Amino acid sequence: MTPKYLYLNTIGCQMNVYDTEQMAAGLSRIGYVQTFAPESADLVIVNTCSVRAKAEQKAFSFLGRMAKLKRRKPHLIVGVAGCVAQQEGEKIIARMPYVDLVLGTGAIGRLPRLVTQIESRRRQIVDVRAADVKETFAHVSRSQREDSQASRFVTIMRGCDNYCAYCVVPYVRGPERSRQPQSILREIRALVDAGAREVTLLGQNVNSYGKKEGWGTFTDLLAGVNEIEGLHRIRFTTSHPKDLSPELIQGFAALPKLCPHIHLPVQSGANAVLKRMKRRYTREVYLDKVHQLRDTCPEIAITSDMIVGFPGETDADFEQTLDLVKTVGFDGLFAFMYSDRPHAPARRYDRKISEAEKSDRLQALLDLQSHYTLKRNQTMVGSRQQVLIEGVSKRHTDDSLKPDAPRQWTGRTRTNKIVNFHQLNDSGSADEISIGQLVDVDIERALAHSLWGARSGDSSGTRGS
Ligand code: SAH
Ligand code: SF4
Ligand code: F3S
Repeated sequence: MTPKYLYLNTIGCQMNVYDTEQMAAGLSRIGYVQTFAPESADLVIVNTCSVRAKAEQKAFSFLGRMAKLKRRKPHLIVGVAGCVAQQEGEKIIARMPYVDLVLGTGAIGRLPRLVTQIESRRRQIVDVRAADVKETFAHVSRSQREDSQASRFVTIMRGCDNYCAYCVVPYVRGPERSRQPQSILREIRALVDAGAREVTLLGQNVNSYGKKEGWGTFTDLLAGVNEIEGLHRIRFTTSHPKDLSPELIQGFAALPKLCPHIHLPVQSGANAVLKRMKRRYTREVYLDKVHQLRDTCPEIAITSDMIVGFPGETDADFEQTLDLVKTVGFDGLFAFMYSDRPHAPARRYDRKISEAEKSDRLQALLDLQSHYTLKRNQTMVGSRQQVLIEGVSKRHTDDSLKPDAPRQWTGRTRTNKIVNFHQLNDSGSADEISIGQLVDVDIERALAHSLWGARSGDSSGTRGS
C-alpha cells in the first residue's frame, strides 16, 4: 500500500489532543501516515474548539487556507472535526463547499470508515449523530503507540451535565458519561509499556466520574491507577469546585503517585456573578476548599480559570475577583474575556460589558497574577525537585548553532512547574539522560513562567539566563 499523508491540526483543550491521537491511530489502520506540512497531505483534518468565538475563528481561518490549497490539489480531502463540527453540522458544508467531511464529537470511532467512503465515492459526509449515552470507548486504539512520550493524556469521561450559563460544552459534547474503569486501566498499562511515566486523566468534571454509572468514586479510580507498576505520576483535569470531595482532597495525602497540583477553575470572585454563571458554589465555599487542600497537602500548587466581563459584572464584582486572586495566591491562572456562545443562556443576558472594558479588566487581572506566579516560583528557589524529563529545552534548540553549548533539558516538577536545566554532572561532563527519566534538580532561579536549575550535585558554574 503506498502511504497516504495525513495532516492534523488540533485547536482547543486536552480532550481534543486525545481525540486527535485517536483519529491518527484509526487512520493509520487504513494507510495514513502523519505529515507536518499540509501541502504534502492527502487528507487534512482540523479538530476544532467552540469555547470562545476566537477559537472558532481560528478554525475558519485555517479552513480558508485549506480552500486555497485544494484549488491547487483537487484530490485533497478536507475534514472538520470536534466541537465546531458538532455545533454547525451541515452549515459548514453550505458555507464551505470544499469541505468533504464534518465529523461530530461522537463520531471519532467511525472516522476510518467515513474516509474510506469519501476516497471511493467522493461524496460529502456529515456525521454529527448524538453520542451514545453508553459510551464504550471501543474505538480507543489498543495498539502500542510507537512514540515514547513521557506524559500522556487519557480521557476518562465525556460530555458535561453542568450547564454553566456561559458555556457551549454541554451542547457540543453531549451528556456526561464515564468510561469503564477496566478500559481506563488497560489503556494506561499499554501507555506505560510504551514508555509513559505520567498520565493526566481528562474529563470536564472528573469529580463526578462514575456517579451516574455507579462505578465507585473518582478517588477509587485514582487508587486503581496508583497501583500500576512503572507509572510514576498521576494528574487530572478539570475539577468542578462544587464536586471536590473531602475524599479526593485526602487522596493528595494518601496516594503517593498523585501529583500535588490541582486545576480548580473559579471563574469569578463575586458571589452575584457566580450565581448568574450557575456555578453552584460561593466564594466562601471555594476558599474553604482551597484551605482544606493546603491543610492536607501543604506543597500543593493551585491553578485556576477566570472569566472577566461576564454580563452584569460590576466594578465592585471585578474587585472581588482581584481580591480572591490576592487571597489565594494561585500558582498560575488562565483568564479569558467573556464571549457569547451559541446555545449558552448567558448570550441572552442583558448588561453586556464592552470589549474595551473586558480587555482592561483582563489586563489588570493578568498583571496582578503575574506577580503571584513569580512569587510562587520564587518559593521553590533553593529546593531540590524531582523532574520528569519531557525533552530538550527550546532554548537549547535556539542555541544549537553552538556545538559546544551544554545540552539543556526540560521537564516538570510534581507541582507542574516547567524546569529547564543543564545535564552536566560534578565533573562537568555530560551524563546520559533521556526522555521519561526522573531526575533531581536543584532550583536556582525563578523566571516568569519557568524555573532554572542544575541537576543535583552539578557544578553551578554554568547557569542559564
Ligand atoms: N469543564 C471545565 C472548563 C472547560 S472550558 C470547568 O468547568 O472547569 C475551559 C475554560 O474556558 C473555562 O473554565 C472558562 O474559564 C472558559 N470559558 C468557557 N466558556 C467561556 C465563554 N463563553 N467565554 C469566555 N471563557 C469561557
Ligand atoms: Fe462548561 Fe461548566 Fe461543564 Fe465546565 S462544568 S464544561 S464550564 S458547563
Ligand atoms: Fe473547546 Fe470542545 Fe474542549 S469547546 S475546550 S475543544 S470540549
